[in-house]
Amino acid sequence: MIKLDLSHAKLNESPSAWKDKVASVDQELVNGTCKGNDFIGWLTWDKDYDKEEFARIQACAKRIQENSDVLVVCGIGGSYLGPRAAIEMVNGLYPADQKVEVIYTGNTFSSSYIAQVMNYIKDKRVTVNVISKSGTTTETSIAFRILKQFMEEKYGEEAKDRIVATTDRARGTLKSLADKEGYETFVIPDNIGGRFSVITPVGLLPIAVAGVNIEDLMKGLADGMVEYGSSNVDENPAYAYAVARRILQNQGYDVEMFVEYEPAMQKVAEWWKQLFGESEGKDGLGILPDSAVFSTDLHSLGQFVQDGKKVLFETNLYVDQAPIDIIFPHDDENLDNMNYLAGKSVDWVNKMAAKGTLEAHEVTGNVPNIILTMPGMTAYDFGNMCAFFFKAIAMTTLLNDSNPFNQPGVEVYKKNMFKLLGKE
Ligand code: PA5
Repeated sequence: MIKLDLSHAKLNESPSAWKDKVASVDQELVNGTCKGNDFIGWLTWDKDYDKEEFARIQACAKRIQENSDVLVVCGIGGSYLGPRAAIEMVNGLYPADQKVEVIYTGNTFSSSYIAQVMNYIKDKRVTVNVISKSGTTTETSIAFRILKQFMEEKYGEEAKDRIVATTDRARGTLKSLADKEGYETFVIPDNIGGRFSVITPVGLLPIAVAGVNIEDLMKGLADGMVEYGSSNVDENPAYAYAVARRILQNQGYDVEMFVEYEPAMQKVAEWWKQLFGESEGKDGLGILPDSAVFSTDLHSLGQFVQDGKKVLFETNLYVDQAPIDIIFPHDDENLDNMNYLAGKSVDWVNKMAAKGTLEAHEVTGNVPNIILTMPGMTAYDFGNMCAFFFKAIAMTTLLNDSNPFNQPGVEVYKKNMFKLLGKE
């Protein structure tokens, strides 16, 4: 369970004062009468998910582990950030025992990037998982056509067994293409939007291929839905966090810097930025989601946080138990003068850096700090964290009276681009 500490957040009122409002918004959410109520399938997904499809995902992942060196995930936004975040968080950035490498394309128009991916996979045993709910996203469609031709050239008839499509149950170009070509398909539920879809086949297949236990992930999600299920803000840390953000915005803070101390969680921050930015940034409202990995970024952004304009508050995601710890070695010569740390745990050093930074930013820099602490970086923790942030973003956005589940703003660039590209 994620623990919340608001004692460094400099709130000028208690979240408890929002109790009635939170309870009434919670009722709208759980009764399905809130704004965007056709996209709240994630609320009960831990119970409703298709068990037969789940078993098929596990079988498909096993097959890919046996016959592939690389899984290419072709998707953008909600159709790739979640699986990438989970895989990197749980397995780390240089996993020694991950059987299949997972790489990502379909998330950019960069010709250099696409060409380098194709070059990287050319002599490897490859499976492709194309992921798109709409089935028409241009970045994904461009990369997938190139991948499809590559796979057909490399594998001939067998290509169709090495391409898996995750898309809408019945509609869209990708669904008809997949059916025509005979690809195995998995369903993105109608009532779960892209940025909430890591808990569906969108995330589950690539995550399982990477060897991460998806049963544990779903258990973490299910437990989280109970742990963050209360309508009482005093008993629900996800809702207290949601309210703290609203209070801080009322105090004039327009930027939230999401801070982790684990480089393997950098993609969790990217996933969080989409979840929060796309859900809340509308109707002229919202807090700009930003992120940093400390202590790395203390050597770049630290100056601004400490001394710059007071526009931001920090939300720290601490991890109680580092997946791997190392002991700093003694050196007889001590030429680097580092023996004062000999025999100490490096994770302890990291935690002391966090403590020192909190004091520097909160006390000296006068920057509000919210602290979230998760127990570890396991599949279970990832699922549990999804429940926490899903509940939090739904509540915090509904408190703004906005619809958390749409993203009308992202259509504008597409319209302009299609005009320039000459699309009919
Ligand atoms: O949250 C969202 O809905 C978006 O980020 C989508 O996931 C993203 O645009 C990709 O869309 P699609 O899955 O339809 O290709």
